[in-house]
Amino acid sequence: MGSQLVMAPNWCGCGVLSSNSRKMSTNDFKLSSSPFKFSKPYPRSAYRVTAYYGLTTPPYELDALEPYMSKRTVEVHWGQAHNEHVEKLNKILKSSTFYGHTLEEMVKVTYNNGNPLVEFNDASSLWSHDFFWESMQPKGGSIPQGGVLTQIEKDFESFTNFKDEFVNAALSIFGSGWVWLYLKRNEKKLAVAKTQNAVSPLVWGDIPIIGLDMWEHAYYLDYKDDRLAYVNNFLDHLVSWHSVMVRMMRAEAFVNLGEPNIPEA
Ligand SMILES: [Fe+2]
Repeated sequence: MGSQLVMAPNWCGCGVLSSNSRKMSTNDFKLSSSPFKFSKPYPRSAYRVTAYYGLTTPPYELDALEPYMSKRTVEVHWGQAHNEHVEKLNKILKSSTFYGHTLEEMVKVTYNNGNPLVEFNDASSLWSHDFFWESMQPKGGSIPQGGVLTQIEKDFESFTNFKDEFVNAALSIFGSGWVWLYLKRNEKKLAVAKTQNAVSPLVWGDIPIIGLDMWEHAYYLDYKDDRLAYVNNFLDHLVSWHSVMVRMMRAEAFVNLGEPNIPEA
């Protein structure tokens, strides 16, 4: 068998060369059964291919969240603030040792147990913004159905208590940050948390379920300083309970929310 070009998957589905990949000689390509064909010897300057993360498009039109989040806010937030993290991260990665990680892995590894590395801020912000856009949908909000509602009522005693806790956490953030509904792996229950700057529950090893951006750029154009109206409109009209249901179903692959049911040998 000939040598193979080692491609590592990343979060956007495009391939990146892993840092663990050895450098290749032109003989590799002669031996390889790879479909990559080169008419000339591969230039040495092109051996190094850096990891690349792209700007993911929100899963709806940019004006689809109006009147609760304006097209202008989404344009500025997604097209500028979010995109800046993409560009900064890719720039840092040109001289970084981190290659071939999924974005989620990158966030966890670069948090470095509370001593964040230089890649962390943009990697985590990028992950959280992707998560934020998918935490919303047109005609969202209101009350979840079925298992999601049951789990919230179990862990917060009532849906009203969950909303109060979420709103209070959001309004008590000093400066810039995020508010989360997340699943605590060890306690096997949902909880609300606020985080500063770019931190998310991912770094604690827990599972985010909803993420709301409480940086000023997320709300100021539409709400000025009225953060209560921003958070209430998110919960009443924007939050995607469908995404929550899907995320809870995925989370259950890692956290058993019911009684253990292990077949006897
Ligand atoms: Fe943001």
